[in-house]
Amino acid sequence: MGFLCSLTFSIQFLLLFSSSLFTNCFTLNHSTTTHHHECHQHESNALLSFKQSFLISKSASYNPFSYPKTLSWSPSTDCCSWDGIQCDELTGHVISIDLSSSLLYGSMDANSTLFSLVHLQSLDLSDNDFNHSQIPAKIGELSQLRHLDLSHGNENTFSGEVPPQVSQLSNLLSLDLRSYTLQPLPYNLINHLQLKASTLTSLTQNSTRLEYLRLSFVTISSSLPHTLTNLTSLQKLSFRQCELYGEFPVGIFHLPNITVLSFGDNQNLQGTLPASIGNLTNLAFLYLEDNSFHGEIPQSLFRLENLEILSLSYNFFEGQLALDMFLKLKMLNVLDLSINKLSLLSQNRTVNVTILPPIQWLGLSECNLNGEIPTWIMNLTTLNVLNLHYNNLQGEIPYFLFKLENLTGLDLGANMLEGQIELGMLSKLQKLTFLGLGGGNKLSFVEGKNTTNVTFPPQIQSLDLGSCNLVHFPNFIQHLQELTDLHIKQNSIKTIPSWIWNKTTLQFWEISNNLLIGEISPLICNLQSLIYLDLSFNYLIGMIPSCLGSFSQSLQYLSLAGNKLIGNIPQTYEKGNALQFIDFSSNKLYGQLPRALVNCRMLEFLDVRHNHFNDSFPFWLGSLPKLKAVSLRDNQFHGAIMCPLKYTFPQLRIIDLSHNGFSTKLTSEIIMCFKSMIISDKRQLDFKDLILSKNMFLDIDSSSFSMSNKGVVMDYLGSQYLHHMVAIDLSSNKIYGEIPDIMGSLNSLVVLNLSNNMFTGSIPSSFGKLSNLEVLDLSLNSLSGNIPQQLTGLTFLDFFNVSFNNLSGPIPENGQLSTFDNNSFEGNKDLCGIQLLKKCEDPPKPPLQKPDGDQDSESGSFFELYWMVILIGYGGGLVAGLALGNAFAVDVYRLLQKIF
Ligand SMILES: *[C@@H]1O[C@H](CO)[C@@H](O)[C@H](O)[C@H]1NC(C)=O
Ligand SMILES: *[C@@H]1O[C@H](CO)[C@@H](O)[C@H](O)[C@H]1NC(C)=O
Ligand SMILES: *[C@@H]1O[C@H](CO)[C@@H](O)[C@H](O)[C@H]1NC(C)=O
Ligand SMILES: *[C@@H]1O[C@H](CO)[C@@H](O)[C@H](O)[C@H]1NC(C)=O
Ligand SMILES: *[C@@H]1O[C@H](CO)[C@@H](O)[C@H](O)[C@H]1NC(C)=O
Ligand SMILES: *[C@@H]1O[C@H](CO)[C@@H](O)[C@H](O)[C@H]1NC(C)=O
Ligand SMILES: *[C@@H]1O[C@H](CO)[C@@H](O)[C@H](O)[C@H]1NC(C)=O
Ligand SMILES: *[C@@H]1O[C@H](CO)[C@@H](O)[C@H](O)[C@H]1NC(C)=O
Repeated sequence: MGFLCSLTFSIQFLLLFSSSLFTNCFTLNHSTTTHHHECHQHESNALLSFKQSFLISKSASYNPFSYPKTLSWSPSTDCCSWDGIQCDELTGHVISIDLSSSLLYGSMDANSTLFSLVHLQSLDLSDNDFNHSQIPAKIGELSQLRHLDLSHGNENTFSGEVPPQVSQLSNLLSLDLRSYTLQPLPYNLINHLQLKASTLTSLTQNSTRLEYLRLSFVTISSSLPHTLTNLTSLQKLSFRQCELYGEFPVGIFHLPNITVLSFGDNQNLQGTLPASIGNLTNLAFLYLEDNSFHGEIPQSLFRLENLEILSLSYNFFEGQLALDMFLKLKMLNVLDLSINKLSLLSQNRTVNVTILPPIQWLGLSECNLNGEIPTWIMNLTTLNVLNLHYNNLQGEIPYFLFKLENLTGLDLGANMLEGQIELGMLSKLQKLTFLGLGGGNKLSFVEGKNTTNVTFPPQIQSLDLGSCNLVHFPNFIQHLQELTDLHIKQNSIKTIPSWIWNKTTLQFWEISNNLLIGEISPLICNLQSLIYLDLSFNYLIGMIPSCLGSFSQSLQYLSLAGNKLIGNIPQTYEKGNALQFIDFSSNKLYGQLPRALVNCRMLEFLDVRHNHFNDSFPFWLGSLPKLKAVSLRDNQFHGAIMCPLKYTFPQLRIIDLSHNGFSTKLTSEIIMCFKSMIISDKRQLDFKDLILSKNMFLDIDSSSFSMSNKGVVMDYLGSQYLHHMVAIDLSSNKIYGEIPDIMGSLNSLVVLNLSNNMFTGSIPSSFGKLSNLEVLDLSLNSLSGNIPQQLTGLTFLDFFNVSFNNLSGPIPENGQLSTFDNNSFEGNKDLCGIQLLKKCEDPPKPPLQKPDGDQDSESGSFFELYWMVILIGYGGGLVAGLALGNAFAVDVYRLLQKIF
């Protein structure tokens, strides 16, 4: 489990809040409490009219200290004395309006009287509810503005495009259009505002005095303009989750006065940290997590004495660092280096523990840490969160960890720790809410004999005791009233106690790979908060409770794979359900697929492979707007494959119909069912809206890495891999006729398996256009003619098989095809070439010109969103093995190795 990694984000938000959100960081030079002038009448009227266009609503503001400032605005008093209003002491003009957190509710009029206040220097409307109205273009008329704050935590805030006119505000010192959230994990913050790249560029050219520029959660969808680095007065830059991509301008690291750089969560933002970063002596916050930064982390960074937050997790930073390098940073609060390609060296030397930083968050997950847990950690008494997940830490868990009384999160999962943990050892950690011990340690968790006296931290919310040698369902869990996440996979638990059905707080429950026997109790449908339910790979028998399709409006993930369940799958799925992922694979289920599945409008993955379903092609799934992957593999589906007009499979990326009884001619119409696999812009392949929240992915993510070590066959569900994965598997059916030429237009295909069918005719030369193809299997058909020269241009091909057809002529000697051996070509009696030890009569044709593909950007895409990769051990199968038969598992493994 990597839940602590995901928690990082919330911590940042809290820190952001405390540091700046609700405090007005600017004061105006002119402002004063005494007024020499009375308010101008027209300005007073304008303000009153503005006031009148809004209602006061308690739910309009997030800030707990909100109050309706406009209540004090009365025509009978001087407007300069009104709450939130400041006037210029000489001219009497209104120069500042602060209506932040004022419970305003209503739409902003494009012609609002507000814009007649042309002397305004500061306008703060943050944290109100503007009911999705647009930011009026007239904002550009307030040419004196130095401070503009329209940030918000409200769903119904400003939305739409930020008007280009903001770039006319050439006096701006601070611009804040951020969104933020106070919601607990897993949050799913939606970007409401869009900012055109051209507007951002104009802004940086015009507003050259900018000190604060905060655009987090505004969709920008472009690279950063280099002109940003001209703004030498910049102090705070916030661009979190703006869909930025491309190269991060290194000049930003040379801005002399920078204190905050927040660029997290822009997955495709690339860059390196220059050594000169050590000159940014004011730098306090550096957030770069979840991007594509690479290169080494300069040592100079650990000289920045004012550094409070260093969050570099989920990037591709590499190289070696001393584990204790941060211990001299006097201000350091958060250090997160998790999930990069770093090696932290635990040097065996003594550390001067009298001068440790006030560190609260230490995230060193996947940092190649070896040896024992260092003893100086015992002196980091301020520690709230310690994440050492997925390293190579050895030995017993030192007892001092259980005395760090401030710990709220402790993740030691997926190491090589050993020994026995008794429940009682945890009794000092009374603040603990997250505890991760699972995922491949050699630990044993025991409750101990006399558990009645043990006060286990009662507010535990998330508990991972995966592979902790549990033989019984731990009893103390019964007393955890706030438990939301329970991960106890890979133990030897046989029965589920009945009290679990009362734990209605449960949201994530994973008890896969245990020894559960018996039937699934229908009481499971009491757990109405469930978002994620994984009962896969147990020995469950009987029918699936029929309520399971519709018991919860929140359920997103349901896996019952790898059991011995029989009968029909649940027939009812209520409208508006949240199901995104359904896995019923590898059971003994039969009957038809329920048509009610069309109510699962959020469904992205459906896996029913290895069952006994007997049905015609479920073309009606083609109306699901988000469906990305379907596997019907190894069932008794039959008849024609078709997709009538309205059933277009608009998002389909993976379809596996193999090992069924489909008998049909493969027509162009069928190929057009898969036209979503024609992708001109790579970025369309972005699986950003992918299933479940990202946090959930992080959860599953790392625990499965440990399984890959066992050398078992791997299935995959990596949205990273999926991100890249586009596949059609029609193998082992009775599909006949010629392969239509148009198949070569499905240009994003990575895997194409048509083997073991009744195809005739020749291999379409258009396959040479499938430039992303990595796996092509046409074996065991009746294809004839030559192997087209065009296939030699398929430079990514890792697996190629045309054996057992009627092909003839020479095997093209150049290009990728020459790397495959006899097994790829045998069983074609008229085929000749070195591979078959059969000389060709005529010299082969001259080589074709390689198409000039953009291979670099290609392999780059492999790395995008890498955190979503999920390697699942044999039987861990989520969507899994969808398109790839086990025969290809080795190739998949190789592909995955490329990723790491
Ligand atoms: C704003 O006022 C102008 C004329 O002053 C008018 O043409 C326009 O329609 C008004 N816009 C709205 C949204 O009321
Ligand atoms: C730059 O600012 C000036 C003065 O406010 C304005 O006239 C001009 O249109 C602005 N340029 C852009 C590109 O917005
Ligand atoms: C801003 O930076 C660009 C290069 O990024 C440069 O060409 C331009 O001259 C700079 N403009 C100013 C006003 O410094
Ligand atoms: C940086 O900050 C210092 C001190 O506040 C100030 O004197 C200097 O002008 C600033 N530099 C720029 C380029 O704004
Ligand atoms: C940063 O400081 C080093 C000395 O520590 C100096 O050599 C270098 O030029 C500085 N870099 C920048 C960009 O100011
Ligand atoms: C560290 O070094 C000391 C001797 O200097 C040795 O006794 C000890 O075992 C070492 N510890 C580890 C974890 O290597
Ligand atoms: C440890 O640091 C303290 C405070 O800076 C200093 O007084 C002490 O001498 C240091 N101890 C050693 C062994 O360096
Ligand atoms: C470090 O922690 C240990 C155990 O709590 C304690 O005995 C020791 O005094 C601490 N050292 C310092 C310098 O606080």
